[in-house]
Amino acid sequence: MRRLILLPICLLLLIADDSKKLPDGPGRKTTERLCGACHGFGNFIKRRETRDGWNAIIEDMIRRGAMGQDEEWAEVSDYLYAQFPK
Ligand code: HEC
Repeated sequence: MRRLILLPICLLLLIADDSKKLPDGPGRKTTERLCGACHGFGNFIKRRETRDGWNAIIEDMIRRGAMGQDEEWAEVSDYLYAQFPK
């Protein structure tokens, strides 16, 4: 019986762990969708870049196969620079 109670609690803790989410802000949803397709956000969430630096990373990811529309990449670029500026 105790196990039946523990299971939902564990699931709740998993859901509540938002370390895999990006900070709130305009463009967050687009960034999560476009940048979360291949890897987690851990490799760039601690990173600080200039506007050019982020744009270079975005271009690098597009070369690796990231898919998005021009206006979506503009949103991602704005978001990344607003949240993680150098
Ligand atoms: C098509 C798949 C794909 C998408 C989409 C993608 N990446 Fe990547 N990314 C990779 C691969 C492959 C690597 C290299 C292996 C690794 O570090 O996991 C990488 C590595 C990185 C690195 C580390 C690179 C380094 O030189 O240290 C950063 C930062 C990064 N990605 C950021 C982003 C951002 C920001 C986005 C959204 C604009 C994004 N990625 C979208 C595939 C992708």
